[in-house]
Parts: sequence; C-alpha cells; structure tokens
Amino acid sequence: MRLAHAGGIAPATMSAAPKPFSVGPVRVDPAIVLAPMEGVTDRAFRTTIRALGGCGLAVTEFVSSEGLTRDVKDAWHMAELDPNEHPVSIQIYGRNPERMAAAARECQALGADIIDINLGCPSKNVTSGCSGSALMREPELARRIFDAVYDAITVPLTVKMRLGWDDNALNAPIIARSAQDAGAQMITVHGRTKVDMYRVPARWEPIRRVREAITVPLLCNGDIVGAATATAALAASGADGIMVGRAVMTDPWTIARIHAHFAGVPFAEPTLDDRRHLLHAYVEKLVVQEGKSRRIVSKLRKTIGSFSTGLRNAARLRQSISAIDGAPEAHKLLDAFFDDLASRGEMPQPWHEDVVTGADDDGAEEAVTGS
Ligand SMILES: Cc1cc2nc3c(=O)[nH]c(=O)nc-3n(C[C@H](O)[C@H](O)[C@H](O)COP(=O)(O)O)c2cc1C
Repeated sequence: MRLAHAGGIAPATMSAAPKPFSVGPVRVDPAIVLAPMEGVTDRAFRTTIRALGGCGLAVTEFVSSEGLTRDVKDAWHMAELDPNEHPVSIQIYGRNPERMAAAARECQALGADIIDINLGCPSKNVTSGCSGSALMREPELARRIFDAVYDAITVPLTVKMRLGWDDNALNAPIIARSAQDAGAQMITVHGRTKVDMYRVPARWEPIRRVREAITVPLLCNGDIVGAATATAALAASGADGIMVGRAVMTDPWTIARIHAHFAGVPFAEPTLDDRRHLLHAYVEKLVVQEGKSRRIVSKLRKTIGSFSTGLRNAARLRQSISAIDGAPEAHKLLDAFFDDLASRGEMPQPWHEDVVTGADDDGAEEAVTGS
C-alpha cells in the first residue's frame, strides 16, 4: 500500500488514534514520544518541541554510564533537565551492570521520571565498546544490566532497541520479553536492524512480534514523519504509541501536527512568523543551557540549519550561521533572513512527504490524500 498524505487533517476514518497510557506512575498523554537523538535532543531542543504541543514524553540524548560514574562534565551536562519538562526520560548506555545501575540512580536523582536503556545505537563508538545494539547479541549481559538498573531505581525502567543485529537475528521479541521480566515497563522498537543502519526503510510489521511477546506498552519507531506514516506504523506494529525522531529536526511541528490529526482538530500550519519566533526562542534557550561555552555556536549552526529546511535561501542562512560567533549575531542573522522572506511574501514549503511505501496484496499502488 502506498499512501501519499499531503498534510492537514486526514479523514477520521483513516486512523485509530493511539490512546494515552501509563508507564508505572507516568502518564504518557498523548502517546507520541520525542526520540532520543545524540547531539540533538538536548534541553533546549526538547523544551522547544514540547512547547509546540502533542508530545507526551521526551527522551534525552543517550548519556554514557561510564561518563556519569567517572564524573565526566559533558555526561552530566547531557543529563540536565529543565524543571518544566516532565515527564521526561533519561537514556543511558553502557555494558557494565554496576556502572549502569549507579548511573541510573544518579539520573533518577536529577529528576528523571523514567530511565531508558539504550540497546539500539549502531554507531561504532558505542558498539565497539559493546553497548548500544551490540548488547542484543549478548542477551545474558543485557539481562544482568536490566536487573541491576531495575534494582537501583524506583522510577520506571524502559528499554529501546532495534529489531535485532541483522536479519538472521531478529531477536527483539526475546530481548523485550527479558526486559519485561526484569521489570521494564515500556519497550520501544526502531524497525531496523543494526546492520541496516539507516540504509533501508524502517519495517514496522516485525515489531508486531514484540507486541505479541510483551504486555507492557510498546512504542514503534522509524520513518514516522506525519499522520499517514504514524497511522500505518501503528496499524502494522500493533504498538500503543509512536516515537518520532529525525522528522522533528527539520520540521519541529511534526509531533504537534500528528497529534492534531489523531485528536481530530484542525492544525494551523506554522507561519513564517511562527518559525521566526521559534528560532529566536531556541537561541535564547541555548544561551541559558550553554552559558558562555563555545558549544553554543556549533549547536546553533546545526539546529538553525535543520530547522530552516524548506525555506527559500535556507542554504545561504546555513552558510552565514556557520561564521557566527555567538547568540547576538544569530538573532541578527535570523531577523535579516526572515525580513527578507517576508518582503517577498514567501511561504514555507512542506518539509516531509508523508508517504508509506510497500506493495498492496495485489501489488497495486493506492494513493490517499488527506484534506
Ligand atoms: C542524530 C541522531 C542521534 C541519535 N541518537 C540516539 C540516541 O542517543 N539514543 C537512541 O536510542 N537512539 C538514537 N538515535 C535513533 C533515534 O532515536 C531513532 O530511533 C531513529 O532515528 C529512527 O527514528 P526516526 O526515523 O523517527 O528518526 C539517533 C538518531 C539520530 C538521527
């Protein structure tokens, strides 16, 4: 089946909205979660996205348990939370059960409502240290980590994983079941294997086998960019909710738009002014988060670059941003950029083609366009 959804609100019959659910005492309402993304979902980013609405839970970028327990400043910085961003989950990674337990305890003390264990990251520096998705090949060690972390905290434990290491080892159902048996209260599955990296489209159907293996809430994740892909992912996987990652990097309103669709309420597409305000507010949040650190410049370059996708002359903005040396300059550049767009009467272009690809039973392609 192939759905081409042009945005706006699709007919209500098109989708069954996911229902809010609880992870222990934590209510996830709406059942739409901002994915953990290293270098992206820091405090400033998370609070920017949440302010737009529709996000029931956000997850921090993964934080190294070795870094936290060896007092590495950057690791502690990554785990900092905003007092107003609850519920929020801190994700940790590592392969030493004692250090994972100690890190989880610290994250709980920092105010995390949930501690999430990363079993999904395919990147070399995580897998070569044999954590992230590499742990899916060591189910016994993974279980020891689940047990140790569960025993160390009183807030809920959750686990995020890929489908498995490769197509010959699609063991997410077994690992998810093991996590549940150890006390995990929610599982997220990204519909790719470690070996897939991002080279192939996410597969949501295999996530259904995880659904059948566990009774705790399940999130499906991978390539969800709008109402059509969210609906298809939920239908294919049988999951209770969705997790959205990269789409939000280029279109911060993705989650709010999907939520409006499921709630059956009109969604007002962001205007140029909305985008201008969002970017200025983001810069200010970064100033609070980073203080005088030089990190602010690289973060500004990265996020302003991705948030301006779909706007005319965004490439030029990205180029100018790469030369800035602080927040005041970023504000000036943003104003000049948006003033120019406004004087031309420019409208933002749609960011994502919300398309589900795959063959129908009869191999035909169907196109459904939302209103
Ligand atoms: C830049 C980047 C950083 C990521 N960092 C993490 C991470 O820290 N922890 C994690 O579990 N997954 C991480 N992921 C994976 C995402 O959480 C998500 O599972 C994946 O991108 C698929 O979802 P999407 O298609 O909605 O982006 C990262 C992905 C990206 C693109």
